[in-house]
Amino acid sequence: MTGCILAIETSCDDTCAAVVTVDGELLSNRIASQGLLHARYGGVVPEVASRRHLEVIDAVTADALEAAGITLADVDTVAVTRGPGLIGALLVGVSSAKALAAARGLPLVPVDHLHGHVVSATLGPDPIEPPYLCLVASGGHTFIGRVEDPAHYTVLGETLDDAAGEAFDKGARLLGLGYPGGPALDRLARTGDAQAFRFPRSAPAELDFSFSGLKTALLYRVRDLGEAEAERRRADLAASFQRAIVDALIARVRQAIVCERLERLAIGGGVAANSELRQAMGDLCDELGVRLWVPPPELCTDNAAMIGAAARFTPALPYPEYLDLDATARLA
Ligand code: KG4
Ligand code: ZN
Repeated sequence: MTGCILAIETSCDDTCAAVVTVDGELLSNRIASQGLLHARYGGVVPEVASRRHLEVIDAVTADALEAAGITLADVDTVAVTRGPGLIGALLVGVSSAKALAAARGLPLVPVDHLHGHVVSATLGPDPIEPPYLCLVASGGHTFIGRVEDPAHYTVLGETLDDAAGEAFDKGARLLGLGYPGGPALDRLARTGDAQAFRFPRSAPAELDFSFSGLKTALLYRVRDLGEAEAERRRADLAASFQRAIVDALIARVRQAIVCERLERLAIGGGVAANSELRQAMGDLCDELGVRLWVPPPELCTDNAAMIGAAARFTPALPYPEYLDLDATARLA
């Protein structure tokens, strides 16, 4: 098989490896979640994450190759998340990718993690094609991008404070749902009444977002209700809180579709795995006559397949030019 890209992603707390082809075929996508390891701390502990990446990266990579039905000898290019993310966690992936590539003199592609989220819908049998709009909503970022060429994206609007996933995680923590909070809040919200409580939908200028006031509003509401009543109304609180986040995201995407006049939309990032958001985006796109690409949940949350996808559109560094490549916690 030719054109195989082995991709590695370790920007946060998931150790990920995948094999994709230059044509966008997804051959394997492996994710070793560290969720349980960090749950007892109520959030990701960077040093713990780096150490666990180091322990499992080789096994996860071997597993991804095996699942793709290939060996290292069949790999043509290695791709890796260079940033943004936790610096120690990123370094494990970057070092591992460099070693794998250098041992065979292969080219290496350093990938922007967010570019991965932007192009994850270009994978598979029905890839999205530019020009398109994309909403990326994750634990660290929330923005609407415009893609004219899959090698680049332009940010049209972004969060001014918390990311949507951060709002989910903080809300979940206030409701005693543990970590990671987004999926737990999503599940609980299904059994609650989204009209029960009114939470603010803040709308800063143009296409930007703001979620920090929402978290404060939930904090005050839980305090006002008192412990026992807040516990009893937990599902209603979760549903109303989630509805506020989804409404804010939908309102901005609606505005972006109207302003930019594009007929294709993709969503990505962990929050794109949210069941209510997926449904609401579908309804919005039906209403506006826009075609929507919703990747499967495992391609929305952090994964290496999307890094392989972005690598198809990113210049590769030939051996040995990448030997001094560094990870970067923040990308320019
Ligand atoms: O993209 P991602 O896996 O990692 C980052 O790049 O941040 O996103 C993780 C975020 C977390 O905040 C998590 O709570 C949220 O995505 N998330 C969800 C759901 N699944 C993951 N939020 C709401 N509903 C979900 N089903
Ligand atoms: Zn991410």
